[in-house]
Amino acid sequence: MRSIDYDTEQYQDYARGRALTQQQLQVWINAFAAVLPERRPLAGLDVGSGTGRFTPALAGAFGPVTGVEPSVRMREIAQTQSQHPGVRYLAGAAEDMPVPSGSADYALMFLSWHHVQDKPRAARELARVLRPGGRLLLRANFSDHHPRPWWLEYFPRGYEVDASLFQPLHEVIATFTSLGWRVTSFGTFTEPSAGTRGDMLERLRLRTLSFFAQLSPDELEAGFRRLEQSVAADPGAPAPVFAEPLLTLELC
Ligand SMILES: C[S@@+](CC[C@H](N)C(=O)[O-])C[C@H]1O[C@@H](n2cnc3c(N)ncnc32)[C@H](O)[C@@H]1O
Repeated sequence: MRSIDYDTEQYQDYARGRALTQQQLQVWINAFAAVLPERRPLAGLDVGSGTGRFTPALAGAFGPVTGVEPSVRMREIAQTQSQHPGVRYLAGAAEDMPVPSGSADYALMFLSWHHVQDKPRAARELARVLRPGGRLLLRANFSDHHPRPWWLEYFPRGYEVDASLFQPLHEVIATFTSLGWRVTSFGTFTEPSAGTRGDMLERLRLRTLSFFAQLSPDELEAGFRRLEQSVAADPGAPAPVFAEPLLTLELC
């Protein structure tokens, strides 16, 4: 995978390109609630919080949240966007979090695990910051359980390139279980449609997905040309939905 420096790319357009509707956000909050303890408040960590897509909603649903994010620019955008009093953002990474040991009930990593360079170190650091019984909600993709977004098929080698950004499920599980974690659940969730196919094309043009950074200029041009032709046939149709995986682990 060509690694992404969010301080030089994607940060300007990320919030727009990856915006979620309230209904989409609620699907995830419900999914997280189903695998978290019922008591409230819960102290949360949003690890790789980016522009804070989830952080305020987590605070509203579960209790105070610390967003940990290495990119200065992504963090700045999060700070200007989220006004929730239960949210703070700190500089840090999954491998090195500026929070006390045993201080969190759960950590969410929403599409940030594949960016982590030193995964064993991150798994140890997550174990340090969570309380015993703490949960890790890993909304990651896996090369062998890969979502099939409707637009991907228009790009040459699209599915293959996108899946190659991610580890197979057993490899991720082994990283954690070798350190004493256990899997508590694995399932898929489907967000409601993101809008029309035309809206979605406009957002895809912002290229706020690491997938696009892996393609050659020719592949990008060919893919967008084919996608545009397809969308032009029915731009107002709802963008098709697709299922996305969530792996939950518990610190024993
Ligand atoms: C695709 S974005 C996801 C952001 C947010 N979780 C969301 O869903 O909108 C990936 C984020 O992971 C961050 N990231 C990169 N390396 C990281 C690391 N080692 N630990 C934690 N986050 C990291 C990036 O800076 C970026 O903000």
